[in-house]
Amino acid sequence: MPDPAAAPEGRHPVSASVVFVAGTGTEVGKTWAAAGLARLLKDSGLAVAACKPVQSYDPDTDGPTDAEALAAATGQDPDAVCPPMCSYPVPLAPPMAAGKLGKVCPTLDEMAADCRFAATVDVGLVEGVGGLYSPIAPDGHNLDLIERLDPDLVVVVASADLGGIHDTMACTLPLSGFPRAVFCNRFDPRTEIHGLNVRWLRDTGLEVATSLAELTEIVCAHGARPPRGDG
Ligand SMILES: Nc1ncnc2c1ncn2[C@@H]1O[C@H](COP(=O)(O)OP(=O)(O)OP(=O)(O)O)[C@@H](O)[C@H]1O
Ligand SMILES: [Mg+2]
Repeated sequence: MPDPAAAPEGRHPVSASVVFVAGTGTEVGKTWAAAGLARLLKDSGLAVAACKPVQSYDPDTDGPTDAEALAAATGQDPDAVCPPMCSYPVPLAPPMAAGKLGKVCPTLDEMAADCRFAATVDVGLVEGVGGLYSPIAPDGHNLDLIERLDPDLVVVVASADLGGIHDTMACTLPLSGFPRAVFCNRFDPRTEIHGLNVRWLRDTGLEVATSLAELTEIVCAHGARPPRGDG
């Protein structure tokens, strides 16, 4: 299978099904979910690429960057997932982290122009930063980038714990104009509140996945193209 990111045109013409992975907040599990989703989609025969338009992180914390974690799942080079010039080792929102480093953070329009996938890619995963209203560019939040990208699906990664309903509703209502689904990360069917909260959210009409397998089914139902086989 061709490496979707290897070609220099790796972020050009759009034919991939684009899934934006947003979250109710930082550390809720966007990268974990996106990487797991990428692996399952690849296992089903689809070509998957990821894009982290900008990233910021604490350089004193162990572990892979988001771009490294996503690249490990898709097989891309981490620099193809997030260009080095858009990676800021400062634990602040990206536009603030860039400012602190004296770097220029791309604008929403520049970011949207770069979040494109090669024609060989079936599913392009774009991971946002922080929560839906976290600053992602000097001129806007994740929601503003979603509006520019007009993805085929927005996945809101959320918690099924106490408070999870509020956070989920607060982040899905502004997305009512988009196909959207919720991934309740760390869902434990033995935890009563998890089951009750998921039922409540489903009763509001939201599509809610509680496992990566369910999330993969939802993504495929929202337009992931079938694997290319006989050309
Ligand atoms: N379901 C899970 N099972 C085990 N570990 C998890 C799970 N979800 C998240 N984690 C771990 O929790 C930490 C935070 O998750 P993750 O990095 O995916 O959050 P994030 O929303 O992408 O954060 P950021 O806002 O920094 O991008 C990571 O160490 C990740 O590996
Ligand atoms: Mg992340």
